[in-house]
Amino acid sequence: MSATLSSVPEVGDPVAAIDTPALVIDLDAMERNLAAMAAFARERGVRLRPHAKMHKCAAIARLQRAAGAVGVCVQKTSEAEALAAAGIDDIYISNEVVDPAKLARVAALARRVRLAIAVDSAEGIERLARAMREAGAAIDVFVEVDVGHGRCGAPATAASSLAHRVVAHAPPEGGLRFAGLQAYHGAAQHLRGAEERAAASRHAASLASAARAGITAAGIACPLVTGAGTGTFAFDVASGVWGELQAGSYLFMDRDYADNAPGPNTPRFEHALFVKSQVMSRGAAHAVVDAGHKSHAIDSGLPQVWQRTLAYANGGDEHGILRPLPGGSAADLPQLGDTVWLVPGHCDPTVNLHERYVALRGGLAAGVVEAVWPIEARGCVG
Ligand SMILES: Cc1ncc(COP(=O)(O)O)c(C=O)c1O
Repeated sequence: MSATLSSVPEVGDPVAAIDTPALVIDLDAMERNLAAMAAFARERGVRLRPHAKMHKCAAIARLQRAAGAVGVCVQKTSEAEALAAAGIDDIYISNEVVDPAKLARVAALARRVRLAIAVDSAEGIERLARAMREAGAAIDVFVEVDVGHGRCGAPATAASSLAHRVVAHAPPEGGLRFAGLQAYHGAAQHLRGAEERAAASRHAASLASAARAGITAAGIACPLVTGAGTGTFAFDVASGVWGELQAGSYLFMDRDYADNAPGPNTPRFEHALFVKSQVMSRGAAHAVVDAGHKSHAIDSGLPQVWQRTLAYANGGDEHGILRPLPGGSAADLPQLGDTVWLVPGHCDPTVNLHERYVALRGGLAAGVVEAVWPIEARGCVG
């Protein structure tokens, strides 16, 4: 059992000993999700490079690699640095970096691990090339195409001129290896209807495929189209355009993703990430738990109260207010000191609030702590 002075659980502790609020992984559920996605990618003949911006944890990245992932994605230079420092050696920053000081860090990292990055402008490519030249480093480069989100990414029609510019800095003189296209439609992931997501994926596929055709017509080989998230990966794979999947949230499956209508021929993923909370106050018609939005992100809505007929209402930074769902009664409310499990609305920013995962084996009711994992890339916003 844990020393009484410490709130960090130890391996072998029973679930009851986990201090609250705590970020808890149901390991059995997570492993089923891990295996389902790995099998899906293997059977469809596509590579899996899960997004580690979701879990931010080297131990989990290692489990994904062991299950067949070729490496991981991150969005931020500091996330890449944190995971590399923890031993992850194949990382794709699936995002643009243009600041010279950050690019110097990217170049330094590229000397230590296999590194890739996305670009979407001529100026960005020149800055990246300069940083690589100064450091004597080489990096894989994906040209990002805007496939529908209207965020980063060049128009599909500009992809071949950008690819040309990358190739102009190819080794041995330069440090840029053209690796293909980044094509991720973030806004499509949470469209609720399966047909809506299918249509968005078809649109993304047509733009990615036009960009690839432009590049090959210019005489440049386009080795890979990479992208896709938990909401669209099955549609994306069916198009035959993507050769690598970047889905991340499938591993934990937050409440927001569970609100999507499931698509056909898509593995079903289970909730595997929970905030363990405790009832700290009781009223006649409500209960208050010790987990507010200091413990879970609410950008994608409030948490679901797991396996109880209760609704969670925002009680501020440190409190959540539980009330019976319509048709329920005060008899459904938990008592002072009772444990309440919450399914976060959005896993990525929830993870960012915590220092560690408590990995539980044997279920939430009577499981035992099997591991405690640091969240190395937590807080890595730059
Ligand atoms: C570029 C990129 N690829 C992949 C993903 C993974 O998406 P998800 O966690 O929704 O599966 C994200 C998530 O935001 C992303 O930004």
